Amino acid sequence: MPMNRHVFALACLALALAACSPMPAQPPVAPVAQLKDGELPVPAGYKSWAKFLSAVQRPDAKQVREIYMNTEATAGTVAKGFPNGTVFVMENYAAAANPDGSLKKGADGKLVKAELLRVFVMGKNEGWGASAPEGLANGDWIYAAYMASGEKSADSTLTCRACHLPLTASKDFVHRYDEYFAKASAAR
Ligand code: HEC
Repeated sequence: MPMNRHVFALACLALALAACSPMPAQPPVAPVAQLKDGELPVPAGYKSWAKFLSAVQRPDAKQVREIYMNTEATAGTVAKGFPNGTVFVMENYAAAANPDGSLKKGADGKLVKAELLRVFVMGKNEGWGASAPEGLANGDWIYAAYMASGEKSADSTLTCRACHLPLTASKDFVHRYDEYFAKASAAR
């Protein structure tokens, strides 16, 4: 049966279209945004994150601190440290004082949290260390500091770097590294 001209033309068109149609789109691999000190926001919803450590007692600084970690951080190991994508948020609370200036203790013997003073954020991702000032690279960590209101605080991020640097890469520049992993392994 001779092919109807019209059908033949349509078949050609369909073939041509098939030949031209692009490959199925690959999901684009989003490049990691290159952030630097002061650019990490206070993550929305961080209060629902896992606690890295709770009620950290700092009578010397007259503070109590709460440290939160995101899901990525929970994959950290004592041997390898924390993966890219890790974010820690630390709330620094004033410790409540008695009228004589001594620090109040609760029934549990611990300092009592008063007002929130600061929210500190540190996060790491591939390439972020490149923006570190000379001599102050803490791997790929960057730092940011906020007031309780959410506004940026005047704290210099150079001080964050200088004080976290001595931990070295062996503790991934995280102060409470040993304490956290000891607690994490005890909980298992
Ligand atoms: C004088 C030293 C010092 C400075 C300066 C400092 N930190 Fe820390 N940081 C610590 C210590 C010590 C801890 C452990 C918790 C504690 O004992 O209060 C800590 C803990 C943290 C943590 C929780 C993870 C960890 O390392 O245990 C974050 C987040 C953090 N600091 C962010 C910052 C940011 C942001 C700044 C700068 C605005 C900063 N820090 C400045 C000493 C410092």
